[in-house]
Amino acid sequence: MIKKIFLVFFAVISISTGVLAEETDGKKSKAVAITDEIINMRSSLAQAFIKPDMEITEETFKNVCGAVAKRAKEIAEKEGVKIRHAATKYRNPLNAATPEEAEALAQFSKDKKLKETADTVEKEGKKYYRYTKPIFVEEACLACHGAKDKRPKFIIEKYSDDKAYDFKVGELRGVISVMIPIEGGEK
Ligand code: HEC
Repeated sequence: MIKKIFLVFFAVISISTGVLAEETDGKKSKAVAITDEIINMRSSLAQAFIKPDMEITEETFKNVCGAVAKRAKEIAEKEGVKIRHAATKYRNPLNAATPEEAEALAQFSKDKKLKETADTVEKEGKKYYRYTKPIFVEEACLACHGAKDKRPKFIIEKYSDDKAYDFKVGELRGVISVMIPIEGGEK
């Protein structure tokens, strides 16, 4: 009898801790998978499409950061999450870092060993688990994010408020955040 009670007790404890762990781990692993996919996709596309001394046009962009933005939107819709790119040196003003995001950027830029951050945020009255990763500059990125006066023509024409140039390899380019709704987080 005592053994039976103990077993039931033990089962309840393991189920409840299991559920809790799964709740946070599930969100984190989903966010890790999404951020990794986006970061790796941009890196491989840039390496595949950017060739030395080629002329960079809007078509080239559509195969690199353009394709990435499209994919991020697709994932966000399919998974019911929010995905955000943010930078202090931004190109698209929609990606301009908020003061809070600028703080995260400063943290990643100061501590190159910091690989990720996680917190909770509230947006439009809803609570989200937020997972953030840094994005670093590689050689192929410089074709469009390198020297100011070497930027492709379409960039100069299209982005009058552009700040996303003069980067060096290894520098922090920005961050990507995935926000996953927390059940029962509505107010
Ligand atoms: C062919 C040109 C091109 C290449 C190569 C390129 N980018 Fe971009 N990138 C752009 C343009 C144009 C935008 C603005 C997109 C928009 O309007 O939303 C952009 C936007 C971004 C953003 C979103 C934040 C912002 O400033 O608006 C990040 C992050 C980014 N690029 C990182 C990279 C990284 C990292 C690489 C290399 C792996 C890279 N880019 C290679 C053209 C390029």
